[in-house]
Amino acid sequence: MEPISLALVEQLIDQYLPQVVKLRREIHARPELGLQEKETTALIRGVLEDLGLDICDLNLPTGVVGDLEGRFPGPRIALRADIDALPIAEKTNLPFQSIKPGVMHACGHDGHMAILLGTAFVLNQLQDQLAGSVKFIFQPAEELLQGAKQMIQAKVLQGEPLDRIYALHLWPQVPFGHIGIMPGTAMAGADRFSVKIEGVGGHGANPHLTKDPIVAAAHCITMLQTIVSREVNPAEPAVISIGRIQGGTAYNTIGDSVTFEGTVRTTGRDAYEHIPEIFRIQLEGVAQATGTKCTFTYERLCPPLVNSKGAAQEALEHSRAVFGEDRVLVLTEPTMVAEDFGLFLEQTPGCMFFLGIGDDKLLHTPTFVFDEEILKTGIKLFVSLVLAKIQSTTR
Ligand code: NI
Repeated sequence: MEPISLALVEQLIDQYLPQVVKLRREIHARPELGLQEKETTALIRGVLEDLGLDICDLNLPTGVVGDLEGRFPGPRIALRADIDALPIAEKTNLPFQSIKPGVMHACGHDGHMAILLGTAFVLNQLQDQLAGSVKFIFQPAEELLQGAKQMIQAKVLQGEPLDRIYALHLWPQVPFGHIGIMPGTAMAGADRFSVKIEGVGGHGANPHLTKDPIVAAAHCITMLQTIVSREVNPAEPAVISIGRIQGGTAYNTIGDSVTFEGTVRTTGRDAYEHIPEIFRIQLEGVAQATGTKCTFTYERLCPPLVNSKGAAQEALEHSRAVFGEDRVLVLTEPTMVAEDFGLFLEQTPGCMFFLGIGDDKLLHTPTFVFDEEILKTGIKLFVSLVLAKIQSTTR
């Protein structure tokens, strides 16, 4: 059998593009928040079923997974797209602008879905020449950093181990049509915490008769800022940000409690493992020193996203061969933005690609748009990656 040429792949992409663009616009017009992606799930499921893919039964309310079995046995590859939108009121004036008030695909996930569906169209067409299988994972609730965990718990990865897993994100910081790859840690891990400090309230004129939770909270916050500067390897970026604080009732009154919450971002495994413990020690120490009571929750959202060295190197060489040396960038700084695809990468070697859409675009804003030309590049990347792994050379 003749190897499948890139020219044929491009021809198939052009053939399916109108359908892909139509789907993208339908999805864009009907965005749904994380864990509520019912219509999106139904639409994708319908498309995959029409193609004749096997739908995995994960028993999850949203999200869908389809398997494409090649004609011959061989490696197992998974491709993942995220399907949720954001609580943002769209102001793009696109003809297919969101019809759902206050909800918008402002992170490009509509593009990710369209690319993955386009990839399914093309690969399905080439099924006779595939030696191996492709799992198409449409994951819910990425923005909530909950969907990957949910799918893994629902055993999306069960069965024979996967050989590779890939995902991509439309990325403004990479020039349009270029592909960014970062071997190793590419995105931060994210945790979320919520703290309550209880003291004893009283008159602002008589602080000695109170246990002031505002002063205690101030110490906690200052102390927590020493975690990054004193406890974490400075060569591995980390961030602690407190995004909300609330306490007190009047200017001359000492309140009885303060609550605050925030996020921890880490890129080093060591910091990721140890920060929760340092966090606890510091809060308990401040509470003791100030005579207040401190309770908190510390929630793991997702670990740092680590592109396996081997898979990232392979992805780099592959992308250069397909798109040319000058369209592939090796990124050198991890982003502190988090992505729960990192949980999949803990189970299976693989790579997250940053697909360039140009730096005049801003993710998570009401005016976010991208040029649909990029869908072709995304599909070509995924299709060629899969073919490089599972194209049959058997006669
Ligand atoms: Ni996103």
